[in-house]
Amino acid sequence: MSSVSLAPSILSADFSRIEEEVLKVAKAGAEFIHLDVMDGVFVPAKTFGPELVQRIVPFTANMLRDTHLMVEDPEALVDGFASAGSQLITFHYESYDNDEKRWSCLRRIKSKGVKVGMSIKPATSPEALEPFLRELDLVLVMSVEPGKGGQAFMESAFSKIAYYRKAIDAIGKHVYLEVDGGINEKTGRICVDFGADVLVAGSYIFGHDDYEDRMARLRK
Ligand code: DX5
Ligand code: ZN
Repeated sequence: MSSVSLAPSILSADFSRIEEEVLKVAKAGAEFIHLDVMDGVFVPAKTFGPELVQRIVPFTANMLRDTHLMVEDPEALVDGFASAGSQLITFHYESYDNDEKRWSCLRRIKSKGVKVGMSIKPATSPEALEPFLRELDLVLVMSVEPGKGGQAFMESAFSKIAYYRKAIDAIGKHVYLEVDGGINEKTGRICVDFGADVLVAGSYIFGHDDYEDRMARLRK
């Protein structure tokens, strides 16, 4: 059995009973809870703000609140999500057009005592994150275009996972390597073989009869 961590994405959960949904994946042993924040600008859809994170804090004590910001200016949202209870904040390389702004966002997240992640979209080359790697707690490889759940996995993610596995091992510091989009028991398995250690899964888990069974299959 591999030591992969699971990060169920609540994007596919039933928001009318979100507490119950979150408790179910917690009970099934999820290590992370993945929170997709969309602003209707960086991606077409809009989701939720810090109040949702705050609302689920009492139900997520044993999971890392993993906040994935798909927004135009992530730095502006850092304080709000940090105070609400996000324990890891990941922002997109593509949210900014220069490294100065990216460094500023990264430092702001760290200054709040929150873990920091950076993500790349499918069209961005993995070298883009190289200068930031030592300062990161997590790298998030997108295996779909960010914006919605239930899309098909893009196999171009595999070589990026391999690239980061090598780069992370070379710096000799623990950095989570997370993959997001189109994860099921087949694609998830291959990602882990390539070196990923956190799998995000939304539609593969939520909406099904047995979350525990779905999660067990992802760990195989
Ligand atoms: C997509 C989000 C994902 C999404 C994944 O932009 O970042 O976290 O919930 O959904 P599935 O697992 O259904 O592809
Ligand atoms: Zn996500």
